Amino acid sequence: MPKLIVTTRAGETSEIEVENGLTVMEAIRDNGFDELLALCGGCCSCATCHVHIDPAFAENLPAMSEDEDDLLESTEHRNATSRLGCQIPFTPELDGLKVTIAPED
Ligand code: FES
Repeated sequence: MPKLIVTTRAGETSEIEVENGLTVMEAIRDNGFDELLALCGGCCSCATCHVHIDPAFAENLPAMSEDEDDLLESTEHRNATSRLGCQIPFTPELDGLKVTIAPED
């Protein structure tokens, strides 16, 4: 299975295997990372699934929607690598993707 490498707010990094069909948010949440709240369940309305993505993978990511862009704009810790995990289906091309859970707003 493709792997996702997750770094927590405390700086601990672990590697998880991701089942086909999950989003980055679902993969992180379902592997017990409680700090990724994902309060809206993935419908792009809370921004609590905010992650920073390794820029090396930027070209493999789906384009950002206007809704995602607006929500990220409302967060304090947005940077050039910010995405909402629920808006990124974890496809096999993303094998080895590194994400860091963004600080809490
Ligand atoms: S889980 Fe709410 S915006 Fe992603």
